[in-house]
Amino acid sequence: MAEVIIVPDAPTAGSIVADELVRLIRRRPDAVLGLATGSSPLPVYDALRERIEGVDVSRVRGFALDEYVGLDAAHPESYRSVITREVVEPLGLDPRLIRTPDGSLDGIATAGEEYEAAIAEAGGIDAQILGIGTDGHIGFNEPGSSFASRTRVKTLTRQTREDNARFFESIDDVPMHCITQGLGTILRARSLVLLAFGEGKADAVAGAIEGPVSASLPGSAIQLHEHVTVVVDEAAASRL
Ligand code: GLP
Repeated sequence: MAEVIIVPDAPTAGSIVADELVRLIRRRPDAVLGLATGSSPLPVYDALRERIEGVDVSRVRGFALDEYVGLDAAHPESYRSVITREVVEPLGLDPRLIRTPDGSLDGIATAGEEYEAAIAEAGGIDAQILGIGTDGHIGFNEPGSSFASRTRVKTLTRQTREDNARFFESIDDVPMHCITQGLGTILRARSLVLLAFGEGKADAVAGAIEGPVSASLPGSAIQLHEHVTVVVDEAAASRL
């Protein structure tokens, strides 16, 4: 059963999760974080920035959930750039210890396997931060994704491309493909923290926590994990 924490606002959610992550890093200075992009985890990164002074983060490792395929790593909206800008630089993490899946066309044939091997070599992910898409996707595991899936290339749905078009000039600039940790990869993390805010996420949150465990709502995979915390505001919790 997931522990569900309903908070008045996103900054409160950020504080709760950041406190937990600071405890983890103090206990285990080489902790392995699973880093998510999107707007939902931003309050966590903001709150972490306020708490990280005096904490040794020099050995903290991190793995991003996903990456666009065929977008130059230097593009401002590649998840490599986003993670660098929003997490690595503000928190002073060592960029050499933070990985994102290789979304370059050259590397794509082997990128999934290599990413899985790197996660395994790091000893697995201690705490995986997750957002959820309006269609219930986690990472970029769109409806229909196998619960056993590992890091691999996927095609983005029209809905996700529309949702993410706000980061690009137009929807035509949103890549068609991505490489994402699989649901099976995510389920192997030692703990999961899912964040969601706003009415637009209410159906996805209700389905993930209370709906049938089904590939048609990939977020429902969290019900198979023993250590899950869901932190949501009242609007996102309104259909629970
Ligand atoms: C993208 C990311 C997901 C994220 C989702 C929701 O599709 N790949 O990891 O959970 O967006 O984003 P937001 O938190 O901005 O609503």
